[in-house]
Amino acid sequence: MSTASLLQRLHIDHPIIQAPMVGVSTPELAAAVSNAGGLGSIGLGASTATLGRALIDKTRALTDRPFNVNLFCHAPARFDDARNAAWLAHLAPLFKALGGEPPASLREIYTSFLADSDMLQMLIEERPAVVSFHFGVPPAAWVGQLQAAGIFTLGCATTLGEAQILAEHGVDAIVAQGVEAGGHRGVFDDAPGQDAQLGLFALLRLIASHIELPIIAAGGIMDGAGIAAALQLGASAVQLGTAFILSPESSATAAHRAALNSARAHDTRITRSVSGRPARGLANRLYLEDCATHVPLSAEYPLAYDAGKALHALASRQGSNDFAAEWAGQGAPLARALPAGELVATLVSEYQRAITR
Ligand SMILES: Cc1cc2nc3c(=O)[nH]c(=O)nc-3n(C[C@H](O)[C@H](O)[C@H](O)COP(=O)(O)O)c2cc1C
Repeated sequence: MSTASLLQRLHIDHPIIQAPMVGVSTPELAAAVSNAGGLGSIGLGASTATLGRALIDKTRALTDRPFNVNLFCHAPARFDDARNAAWLAHLAPLFKALGGEPPASLREIYTSFLADSDMLQMLIEERPAVVSFHFGVPPAAWVGQLQAAGIFTLGCATTLGEAQILAEHGVDAIVAQGVEAGGHRGVFDDAPGQDAQLGLFALLRLIASHIELPIIAAGGIMDGAGIAAALQLGASAVQLGTAFILSPESSATAAHRAALNSARAHDTRITRSVSGRPARGLANRLYLEDCATHVPLSAEYPLAYDAGKALHALASRQGSNDFAAEWAGQGAPLARALPAGELVATLVSEYQRAITR
């Protein structure tokens, strides 16, 4: 599908999607992007159906244009006691150094969309223009129910194989997420050694040469030159996350913003130690521990995130930001602190100049 047909289908003006970012994206950010002619997104990966409905309502109060609603489709946690205990024992010295104790047990802090039929029902009732899936895909019947409600569906793939599974489940378009991307890798199978870590360049060409669906490129795209390159490689649109973190409409913490504006922005890495699933962010103590010590297999996502958040809370009470999850992609040093609408307008003029060069 060409960029023009995708824009027409989505009723948007520009092929720019602001990535859903749980903890960073807000209704204000999504609405500002949609009002500027792009597609804003809100992340419901950490929300209940009730909270999700409130976030959709809030976004609708700020824009009458289409926006995207994002869900996490990971396999629900299996609670492997031995694995969890080994992970807590690994983290115990870090808690103790801060004068605390690791939690006695780990909780599943986010319910997977796959186990949340209330969320499905809410989406069918609310009918947001677009729904996107991360970490997997719901059953084809659910995808069909969303589409029957008039919703356009997007699924994230990090390999050609995942893109083929998404196509088999009937999604309308593929978000191709390169290894450059900030935040959680969309990998379906998060077992160690399963992540092919494909760069966006190869991933786009692999998917474009095998699958007819429109492709949305994600990972390391920060400006118009990057957008033009992705479109040239076969994408119909792009999805940018890190580029929007510094926008005043995001809920990024002051520490996250300061870190992005510092030399630390040049050091993004992937670890599963923060949450239990591989994710790219600014290197913090947990990323560095990965290099310094023998690390056992982390507890599953999102159980490990429960411990990671407890460690960060303990440290931050002592004024330390050493364990904060500050997701960011490889293009982090290129992030600009512009209001989201202004950033969309800037990206549009940059990429239009780049494609006519
Ligand atoms: C702070 C942050 C949070 C993210 N949270 C989500 C999320 O909730 N759902 C999702 O599908 N992707 C999430 N992502 C990944 C984005 O969808 C996208 O793949 C990524 O931002 C693209 O790479 P870039 O950050 O280099 O632009 C997140 C990315 C960042 C930077």
